[in-house]
Amino acid sequence: MNQLLANLDPAKIPAHVAIIMDGNGRWAKARGLDRSEGHMEGVNTVRRITEIASEVGVKCLTLYAFSTENWNRPQAEVDALMHLIGFAIQRETPDLIKNNVRLTMIGDMPRMPLDARQRLQQCFDDTAHCTGLVLNLALSYSGRWDITRAVRLLAEEVSAGRIAPGEITSEMLAGHLSTASLPQQDPDLLIRTGGDLRVSNFLLWEIAYSEIVVTDKYWPDFTKADFIDAILAFQRRERRFGKTSEQLHP
Ligand code: IPE
Ligand code: IPE
Ligand code: MG
Repeated sequence: MNQLLANLDPAKIPAHVAIIMDGNGRWAKARGLDRSEGHMEGVNTVRRITEIASEVGVKCLTLYAFSTENWNRPQAEVDALMHLIGFAIQRETPDLIKNNVRLTMIGDMPRMPLDARQRLQQCFDDTAHCTGLVLNLALSYSGRWDITRAVRLLAEEVSAGRIAPGEITSEMLAGHLSTASLPQQDPDLLIRTGGDLRVSNFLLWEIAYSEIVVTDKYWPDFTKADFIDAILAFQRRERRFGKTSEQLHP
């Protein structure tokens, strides 16, 4: 672990890391357990990865915890997940404060059950003063939901006569997404566990130039060392942003 950490280039730590935490169900199934036990084990991984992200100096960690489409799962699984989210948030709040981590969320909060909402709000309030890592949970979130919402907000400004349609810029649209208030809006690095090569309606606008790392490991098995490995892979990439390699290294 220390050897791995020593390999990191401190000047190239991704400021914003986003993770599609996938594979809890398959992890449980492989052990003959109920899917909900996979989700419970996944909470331990959240704690580990929050710690290591904080330790290496990541500024913002966005975790995809529940998508708009996940509402279509069997009601019992949805209920168990909502309960687990509220429970885990409350249990982890003292450690978040101790580690100077501020909790935020993106997503359709009013759609969440009242109990989970109240526990989330309590944690937002209790960690509002923390100045270290921003832990941003995507809950009842999808990229299309967020872009649609941003477009509605812009349309309201147009219909109120505050802006003309022709004045709308890509920066204005970005400014109306729920990620606008994060320390850095666009993830430098997007990690997906569970091996599937898709984005599943996550941060569609913001990942335009994110480096993507997919690992076959299921989320409950994802370790601190795996997280460092993903950052090391990120640091080996050449981010060209549409330019040529020669332009970057004249
Ligand atoms: C990810 O694990 C967690 C959520 C989507 C809430 P899954 O529950 O999707 O696990 P798999 O993909 O079925 O293994
Ligand atoms: C993506 O995982 C959503 C979360 C990790 C919260 P899913 O398991 O819902 O994605 P699909 O259905 O395999 O695309
Ligand atoms: Mg899945």
